[in-house]
Amino acid sequence: MEYIEPPPTPKSEDKKTKENFLKVLLNDKDEREIVIQKAQVRDVEEILELVNAFAAMNLMLPRGPQYMYENIRDFVIACDNNVPVYSITETREVLNLIVACGSLHVLWEDIAEIRALAIHPNYQHLGLGSRLMETMKEEAKQLGIHRLYTFTLTENFFKTLGFRRQDRSELPPKVWGECSRCPKYFHCDEVGMVLDL
Ligand SMILES: CC(C)(COP(=O)(O)OP(=O)(O)OC[C@H]1O[C@@H](n2cnc3c(N)ncnc32)[C@H](O)[C@@H]1OP(=O)(O)O)[C@@H](O)C(=O)NCCC(=O)NCCS
Repeated sequence: MEYIEPPPTPKSEDKKTKENFLKVLLNDKDEREIVIQKAQVRDVEEILELVNAFAAMNLMLPRGPQYMYENIRDFVIACDNNVPVYSITETREVLNLIVACGSLHVLWEDIAEIRALAIHPNYQHLGLGSRLMETMKEEAKQLGIHRLYTFTLTENFFKTLGFRRQDRSELPPKVWGECSRCPKYFHCDEVGMVLDL
């Protein structure tokens, strides 16, 4: 019998606030140096922190290490390679930080799901979500995928990228696989959206 890892339940002490995120003090004068690339296994812990901080706010599905390692090849990340860290002596050190991630999960011959799209709150509205989506769309096309879908609470963001709303019942049952692992299974508030490539 196949073992399916249950989704980690967000801990009761998790606060549903932005305090779950690593604090980044951005100075407007500092140049951002953001690079989009495929994720590697060494990125798993940082990606989990980002995704699960949103999950604790009920904005996305929580993930665990087993899921991440098994699906690491689905993930693209955006790294800021120039995050300044100032010490009390005013010395400036630079930190590399994963500030966004997203994943493309192939489900069937013609359809793939966009999962775990997460942009650190300090890096939202800079076009990073759109850039990650563009990268995943290109990868999907190269794989021969003709349709993307996602379940989301941020309908408008996906609309700006050309996605349209689609009723769950019109999607192939295969796409509900993730729903059975979701803590919101019995009271789902997400909408299904699709994009023809
Ligand atoms: C939704 C999310 C992925 C958008 O990423 P982003 O990098 O901020 O998006 P972009 O800068 O590429 O936005 C492009 C446009 O999409 C729209 N948009 C972006 N975020 C939006 C949001 N939260 N709600 C509605 N529309 C949004 C805006 O029109 C935006 O243009 P603007 O910045 O000029 O207003 C990001 O806010 C996020 O990670 N949210 C928390 C997790 C989440 O909800 N993930 C969604 C998948 S489950």
